[in-house]
Amino acid sequence: MLRTHTCGELRLSHLGTEVALCGWVDRVRDHKGVIFIDLRDRWGKTQVVIGPESPAATLAAARAVRPEWVIRARGTVGARPAGTTNAKLATGETEVVCREIEVLNEAETPVFQPGATELPGEEVRLENRWLDLRRPAMHDNMFLRSRMVKIMRDHFDALGFIDVETPMLGRSTPEGARDYLVPSRLEHGAFFALPQSPQLYKQLLMMAGFDRYVQVAKCFRDEDLRADRQPEFTQLDVEMSFVEADDVMGVIESLVQRTGREILGLDVPLPLPRLTWDECMERFGHDAPDLRYGLEIVDLTAIAGESDFRVFRGAVESGGRVRGIRVPGAAAKFSRKDLDELTAVAMEGGAKGLVWLKVEPDGAWSGPVAKNLVTVADAVRAKLGCEPGDLALIVADSFDVTCKSLHMLRKRLGATLGLYDPNAMHFSWVVDFPMFAADAEAGGWASMHHPFTAPRPTDLDLLESDPAACRAVAYDLVINGSEAGGGTIRIHDGPTQEKVFKLLGITPEVARERFGFLLDALRSGAPPHGGIALGIDRWVMLFGKLDSIRDVIAFPKTQKASDLMTGAPSVVETKQLVELGIRTVVPPKPA
Ligand code: AMO
Ligand code: AMP
Repeated sequence: MLRTHTCGELRLSHLGTEVALCGWVDRVRDHKGVIFIDLRDRWGKTQVVIGPESPAATLAAARAVRPEWVIRARGTVGARPAGTTNAKLATGETEVVCREIEVLNEAETPVFQPGATELPGEEVRLENRWLDLRRPAMHDNMFLRSRMVKIMRDHFDALGFIDVETPMLGRSTPEGARDYLVPSRLEHGAFFALPQSPQLYKQLLMMAGFDRYVQVAKCFRDEDLRADRQPEFTQLDVEMSFVEADDVMGVIESLVQRTGREILGLDVPLPLPRLTWDECMERFGHDAPDLRYGLEIVDLTAIAGESDFRVFRGAVESGGRVRGIRVPGAAAKFSRKDLDELTAVAMEGGAKGLVWLKVEPDGAWSGPVAKNLVTVADAVRAKLGCEPGDLALIVADSFDVTCKSLHMLRKRLGATLGLYDPNAMHFSWVVDFPMFAADAEAGGWASMHHPFTAPRPTDLDLLESDPAACRAVAYDLVINGSEAGGGTIRIHDGPTQEKVFKLLGITPEVARERFGFLLDALRSGAPPHGGIALGIDRWVMLFGKLDSIRDVIAFPKTQKASDLMTGAPSVVETKQLVELGIRTVVPPKPA
C-alpha cells in the first residue's frame, strides 16, 4: 500500500507514529507561514500541517498543491494544540506533522468543489458525476445502500433462500411499462426485451423446485419518470413455494424490523398495520397512503344529494361522489390566494373546482358557496366533525377524480402544514387489490399488478361473472406514502392462467406464442407459490430520508432517461445498424 493509515483513522493513541496518508486535497489554508491541508479519502479527513520546521521542499510542495490534487503525505502524528481540536471530525484531536509531500496527480480546477456547501445545479452534478460522488454526502448514500443490501442478503441467506441470476436478454415480461428492446444481430427483425422484472423466471424457478429464491435484480422500464422512478432500477426480488400471503409478508416484516433496527435504531412493532385497497381509496384516495398524518376523507354523497347546490346535485345524479376533508384549525392559516392554490391542486387531480368552507367562531360556514349550502350546512359540519376555526375542502365528481384530487390535497396539506415529523417512518400493508382495472385506452381489462396474480379463492367465480369485483391475493408495502414493494400469490394452474389471459384480451394463440413455456410449466407440476419485489432504490431513499432516487444511484438517469455523463443514449454508427438490419427514421448523424 502507498499508505500506512486512512484519512479517517488517526486518534490520540497514534501519537508519535510515523505515517503515510494518501488522498485528495480538500482545503488548503496558509496561516502566517504554517500551511494546513485537509486531506480527504473515503474514510474521512485528516489535517496535515507543514510548518517552518518542515523541509523547504515540503513547504514549497504544500504551497503548490490545489484542491482535488491527489497527494501522499508522510509525517508524524501529533496532538492538535488545545483550542484547535475539531469535535466534528473523528480525527479532530490529531494532525500529521508533515515531513514530505509527494504529488501523485494534479487536478485541473474542478467544475465544483466536492467539499463546498453550495452545490451547482443537478445537471452539472450529473455531467461530472465522478466529482459529485466524491462528496461525503454521496459517499454516505452509497454506503447506506451497500449496508442495506447486505442486510437484505444476510436476512434471506439465513432463511435458506438461494440467489439465482436470471437473464437480461429475454422476452418481454409484462409489468405495465414499455420494454427496452435489444435488436438481434443473428435474426434481423427480432428483438430481446430487457426485463421489466424477473417475474416469469422466478416463477419457473419455483416450478423447478428451488423453493426459496432471492435476487438483487436490475429491472428496466421505459415509463414516464418521476422523483421516485428510474428507467433502470433495482429490486430485491423474492419468490417462495408452498406459501400463503401471510408467509411472504412475514418474511418481509422481519426484514423491515431488522433494517429499522440496524439502520435507524428504530423499533418497528410487528405485525405491520394492514388496510384493504377499498379502505385506502375511501379513507385516503390512494393505494399507497401516507399514514404519518390524518386528514381522512369523509363521504358526503348522501347529504349532498339533499342539497340544491348545482355542483353537488350534478355529481350525485351522474353517479359520482361528494367527498371532503376537514383541516383542523386551518381557517385562519389560508388566505384567498392559498385557497386558489389548493383549488389548482385539486384541478390538477382532475376536479372541476374545489369547494372550500371556513367555520366562523359562531359556527356558521363562510366561503364563496356557503350560501348555496344553507340547507345541508349542519349535516355537512356534523359529518366532517368541523369546529369553529376549521377549514373544509370538498370535491364533487366521479369516485376516481375525488380520490385523485383529495389525495393530492392531502399530500400538499401534510407537507405545508408540517403535519408529520420528517424523521418518522410509517410502514403498512395494502391488501386485497382488485384483480383488474378498466383499460381506458384499449377498452376491456388490464391487470392491476401483473397477469400472473391469483384471484382470492373465494372470488374465482367473479372472474367470469364480475371481473371488476374480483379481488387479488396481492400486497403492497407502503413506507411514508411510497410504494416500497409489491407482490402476490400466483396462479399455479394452467386453466386459471388461461382464463385470466382471455379476460385481458390475450387470445389463446397469442398466449401460446408469448407464454407457451409458462402454460406448459404450469401443467407439469407447478407448486403453489408467491412472492414480492422490494424497490431497493426507494428503500434506500426512504431510510436515508432523501428526496430524490437519483441520490441513491451511483450513475442515475435524468427525467428524460438520459445519462448526462456518458451522453447515453447516443447515435450509433451506420455500420452497426446495417449489421442489425435496422434502418432508423431519423437519419444517423455522421460520426
Ligand atoms: P412492481 O412492479 O410492483 O412488482 O415492482 C416492485 C417494486 O419495485 C419498485 N419500482 C421502481 N423503483 C424505481 N423505479 C421504477 N421505475 C420502479 N418501478 C417499480 C417499487 C415497486 O413496489 N414482479 C413484480 C413483483 C412480484 O409480483 O413479485 C413487480 O415487479 O418499489
Ligand atoms: P362554478 O359555478 O362552476 O363557478 O362553481 C362554483 C364553485 O364550486 C367554485 O368555487 C368552484 O371552484 C366549485 N366547484 C365547481 N365544480 C366543482 C366540483 N366538481 N367539485 C367541487 N367544487 C366545485
